Amino acid sequence: MGSIKLLLANDKVEGIRYYEAYRKNGGYASVEKALNNLTPDEVTEEVKKSGLRGRGGAGFPTGMKWSFLAKPEGVPRYLVVNADESEPGTFKDRYLMEFIPHLLIEGMIVASYALGAHASYIYIRGEYAWIVDILEQAIAEAKQNGWLGKNILGKGYDLEIYVQRGAGAYICGEETALIESLEGKRGNPRIKPPFPAVKGVWGCPTVVNNVETIAAVCPIINMGGEEYAKIGVGRSTGTKLISACGNINKPGVYEIDMTCSVEEFIYSDEYCGGIPNGKRLKACIPGGSSVPIVPANLLLKTAKGETRYMNYESLSDGGFETGTMMGSGGFIVLDEDQCVVRHTMTLAHFYNHESCGQCSPCREGTGWMYKILKKIEYGQGELKDIELLWDIQRRIEGNTICPLGDAAAWPVAAAIRHFRDEFEWHITNPEEAQKRNFGLAHYADAREALV
Ligand SMILES: Cc1cc2nc3c(=O)[nH]c(=O)nc-3n(C[C@H](O)[C@H](O)[C@H](O)COP(=O)(O)O)c2cc1C
Ligand code: SF4
Repeated sequence: MGSIKLLLANDKVEGIRYYEAYRKNGGYASVEKALNNLTPDEVTEEVKKSGLRGRGGAGFPTGMKWSFLAKPEGVPRYLVVNADESEPGTFKDRYLMEFIPHLLIEGMIVASYALGAHASYIYIRGEYAWIVDILEQAIAEAKQNGWLGKNILGKGYDLEIYVQRGAGAYICGEETALIESLEGKRGNPRIKPPFPAVKGVWGCPTVVNNVETIAAVCPIINMGGEEYAKIGVGRSTGTKLISACGNINKPGVYEIDMTCSVEEFIYSDEYCGGIPNGKRLKACIPGGSSVPIVPANLLLKTAKGETRYMNYESLSDGGFETGTMMGSGGFIVLDEDQCVVRHTMTLAHFYNHESCGQCSPCREGTGWMYKILKKIEYGQGELKDIELLWDIQRRIEGNTICPLGDAAAWPVAAAIRHFRDEFEWHITNPEEAQKRNFGLAHYADAREALV
């Protein structure tokens, strides 16, 4: 298995970015099927049957999320597509929107129909400026051809889609911060409850879904939820886009079915094509910068020696203590030359910069973690700093308004858990660490993790 293509089946077809080629290759069939043959509730039912889980990071079941949407009489409802994609290492939504924009528009029409939304938004990260133009053109083409606007397919269903550009803040990917920003305010996360399903955009019931999640609705409706659920394994149904980067021969965006092993993904020519210059694998961050780093010995095999697979269950392996997460599918590979201390410091800087500052554990804690990591990286660390770092990350996790606090804490916790000896080496060999900027020689001697 491993090579089923549902979202990227036609991405190499010439002109697929434009309506004509997209339509010729089966585009908008799911809108025809949904509007002609299914009621809105039946569309939701198909999505439930498919087992689709949100592709934005948390993996929440999409059909269930849709069925939570409040439907008070006379109050509008909204679908908001989360195209903020600011998580370091994640660039799969960009690929979809840049090369197959109509797939997102098509999925949005079906999803909006299911939810009873008549105005839907794409909230896109500000840096994707050129993709805004691509999306605007696709929306105009869809409208010219009768897929948007009034009385779509003569079925009495009306829909408009609007694109809203963000201003470059990572926190605006968090769904309630996104809603605040969409409403023209500073993107501060809201306290939940109420959840967006009850009180979202303009105080109205709202579903926020990731770009890839909404694109996946097209194959689900075309093939039927039950057929979709047969692809993949367990609760990891369907296909997943993975953006792969770091020390690999073939960085890029790949569609996998979730029976693919991690080893196959890293080393096969179909995907990452192995590690350049014959270097060994040291570690990987499999789901975007927020998820825990995993050393090579736990990445390819579980602690029990079983094969690890590219899916939600296998990657998480019983929780954060021993495992990691599928997250948003931003797969970052580190070879033997990479320094975990430096890497963790870089991430800590990012989260400190992106904290919105509303809650003190996140606002202060991310700053402290960055300062301590900088101190260690630049040769001024003390062994007790490791315990201090551990203590700070523990006090952030679970104690904040939004999950950015957790996202800042987990990389630090995992780096210490799996690479404590490298931290100690940095501290006890400051001159060596300064000169070479990584503790690998020591690390390779001390552990058997390198593959
Ligand atoms: C700090 C932070 C940033 C996030 N960034 C994104 C993002 O860029 N794209 C995204 O789809 N979800 C992002 N999320 C998750 C969203 O809050 C939300 O769970 C997601 O859009 C729901 O869509 P899904 O159910 O289709 O995954 C982020 C969450 C946090 C806490
Ligand atoms: S956890 Fe951080 S980013 Fe989230 S609301 Fe609190 S301060 Fe803001």
